[in-house]
Amino acid sequence: MVSDELDRGLEGATVAETRLSRIDGETGDLVVAGFPVEALATEATYEESVFLLLYDRLPTAEELAAFRSDLAARRGIGDEVRAVLRRAAEAGEPPMDALRMGAAAATLDAPDADDATADPDDATADPDAPAEGPVDDAAAADHAAARRAIAAFPTVVATYWRYRRGEEPVAPREDLGHAANYLRMLTGDEPTDAAVRGLETYLNTVIDHGLNASTFAARVVTSTESDLVSAATAAVGVLKGPLHGGAPGPVLDDLREVHRSGDPEGFVRAKLDAGERLMGFGHRVYRVRDPRAAVLEAAAERFYGADGDADFFETAREYESVAVDLLAERKPDRRLDTNVEFYTAALLHGVGVPRDLFTTTFAVSRVGGWMAHCQEQRENNRLIRPTSRYVGAEGRTWTPVEER
Ligand code: COA
Repeated sequence: MVSDELDRGLEGATVAETRLSRIDGETGDLVVAGFPVEALATEATYEESVFLLLYDRLPTAEELAAFRSDLAARRGIGDEVRAVLRRAAEAGEPPMDALRMGAAAATLDAPDADDATADPDDATADPDAPAEGPVDDAAAADHAAARRAIAAFPTVVATYWRYRRGEEPVAPREDLGHAANYLRMLTGDEPTDAAVRGLETYLNTVIDHGLNASTFAARVVTSTESDLVSAATAAVGVLKGPLHGGAPGPVLDDLREVHRSGDPEGFVRAKLDAGERLMGFGHRVYRVRDPRAAVLEAAAERFYGADGDADFFETAREYESVAVDLLAERKPDRRLDTNVEFYTAALLHGVGVPRDLFTTTFAVSRVGGWMAHCQEQRENNRLIRPTSRYVGAEGRTWTPVEER
């Protein structure tokens, strides 16, 4: 069926079924694999969130332990990948470009973790399952590639970052959880519990969000029966764009400026008078406050209360309230409320993620959602192939080059 309707930006077009997350933009509800985001964000470890998305249930204690060690065993990158990242850092390539290069190159030296132990749905893990055939082999390899991408992203980002700062990379430590290990690889120091919990809450909060642009790209790649590394690499490229994953860095700049001047109202008025947008406000889907803003605000409050500059957090709150009021005054017909990026900036800054790595840290989380979407696409695949309306010339006659 070909429709004549032109659907620019595919806004409102439903092109996939998913069990991974549900967004209600009117009520501000976000449900991730059956759990309200508020519960998942605060209760889960990142490994549990990934398991939930990949296998559609929570792991038992035993399964979680096996899954954690499987991911931990897949964190390492070899000399070739480190060389690529060193080169990217020396050449001043931006972090998302380095992640794209590193994620693609990391297939060169994926460590040989025991694929059977961690995958509860892998036929080879079940002693009573029929003998492994070519299809099972392919499925097991696919699941292993998903876990490899999820495990290696933090190492790629941290390795690049260390080189960019003129420091030696910090090797991943298998005894640490995903979030703690990432922070340690970035800073070289043992992170505090409060920082780990803050980062983990962030990673859980943004792991999946419907059919956003990067997730859609990952599904398009998978729909051609291509591989998961290609899907992850394409998704990184999509997330890099400022309309998708690029807002939290500028939010932090704004927060710092307001913290310094102590004048949120003057700052907001000046921006709006200049016709600029306020970063961290407004959303394509939500017509109320983004539910992830509340989750991250609470996490930031906990973190700054325990371990940070409480005054900076208060500035964020004050700025938010002034901004929402002034946006309502200026745009009475359009509800512009706080989005996920606002408290992302405050929280990630607090726990010690450098500003330049905000978007790559988003990717460190979202790769879990991407991989789960790819698996889901595989389970019930149909090539994603929309149509376009031709508006070019017709009936041209070929002129040989010497006559043009
Ligand atoms: N600050 C000021 N005005 C804003 C605004 C913001 N953050 N977001 C939207 N508006 C205004 C637009 O200027 C437009 O006004 P106009 O009708 O007078 O031209 C109106 O609200 C509608 O904006 P539109 O661009 O159609 O909304 P959208 O759904 O396409 O955009 C965003 C959604 C997220 C791209 C947009 O709100 C934005 O740019 N926000 C800032 C960047 C950001 O925080 N991004 C992270 C998103 S999670």
